[in-house]
Amino acid sequence: MDNFEHTSVLLDETISLLNPVSGGVYCDATLGGGGHAEKILEMSNPDGRLIGIDRDLEAVEAATKRLAKFGDRVSIFHGRFSQLEEILEKAGVKELNGLLVDLGVSSHQLDIASRGFSFMNAGPLDMRMDTSAGETAREMLAGMSEDELADIIYRYGEERMSRRIARSIKKMEFDGSLNTTLDLAVAVRRVIGHKKPGKSDPATKTFQAIRIAVNKEMEELETLLDLLPVPLAIGGNVVVITFHSLEDRLVKQKFEKLVKPCTCPQGMPVCNCPEPVAAYNSRRSVRVSSAEKLLNRRSRSSRVRAIRRVL
Ligand SMILES: C[S@@+](CC[C@H](N)C(=O)[O-])C[C@H]1O[C@@H](n2cnc3c(N)ncnc32)[C@H](O)[C@@H]1O
Repeated sequence: MDNFEHTSVLLDETISLLNPVSGGVYCDATLGGGGHAEKILEMSNPDGRLIGIDRDLEAVEAATKRLAKFGDRVSIFHGRFSQLEEILEKAGVKELNGLLVDLGVSSHQLDIASRGFSFMNAGPLDMRMDTSAGETAREMLAGMSEDELADIIYRYGEERMSRRIARSIKKMEFDGSLNTTLDLAVAVRRVIGHKKPGKSDPATKTFQAIRIAVNKEMEELETLLDLLPVPLAIGGNVVVITFHSLEDRLVKQKFEKLVKPCTCPQGMPVCNCPEPVAAYNSRRSVRVSSAEKLLNRRSRSSRVRAIRRVL
């Protein structure tokens, strides 16, 4: 895969939170083009190890090529990060010194029309990150009622016009005119109108919602976060980059639980609650800088949160 385009977001901020060092074992659970992974390997020179995971075969291929220069310090797996435990077992790794998760889709997935994520170019209604498994967007839409679709658009797209958009999509599906990603964008524009200068495309939220549902993105994230603090070693960092408020809220809530598990009412004579197992290594989320936003528009909504295992 020679034409894999993706600019890593929040690169310096992420690496400083992850703090890779020689001898450490790190997992990049969302390899993409391998940009963050390459930096982790450089920083953990000469003998840090990296386990890379991606559910997209094109990303696996591109990252394998880019990281080949690091030889046997790298092990790459095609799979979902919800399968982390089993992937680490295959790699013979018991504990990690750092785990990185850079959520969402790569620019490659968005830009290649045939992947079916783009509302700018006509492509099949696919939207699967892993084209070897699961239902395509078209199959998912066909199996859903109008109400179920409206709920998905509302929940995952935070789109106020979800009911009317779902009706418009179902109408086009019924009359046989919903065949490509551009048709899906037309169904949304019929309700919201056309893009206004300086604003996001009106189809953005609906495409995001359908993509999240097709790839079961929130379930994937929840399963991964539920594993924590295992498989981190004491002192190990988890760093998560999010792109929308739904993901960020979930990460924030799960981190809060690890940082403050004790809920005893004050004045209890003996507290048997467990100690916090994690501490923040950045108290607040770190947002993308204005300079990075200017250079890479797709980074504009990104932010990174991190915690460190202390017990
Ligand atoms: C934003 S890109 C990562 C870019 C990467 N950090 C870089 O610097 O090139 C997100 C990647 O995560 C992958 N991905 C998303 N959800 C996943 C999951 N549940 N399991 C494994 N990979 C996933 C996508 O296929 C995509 O390649």
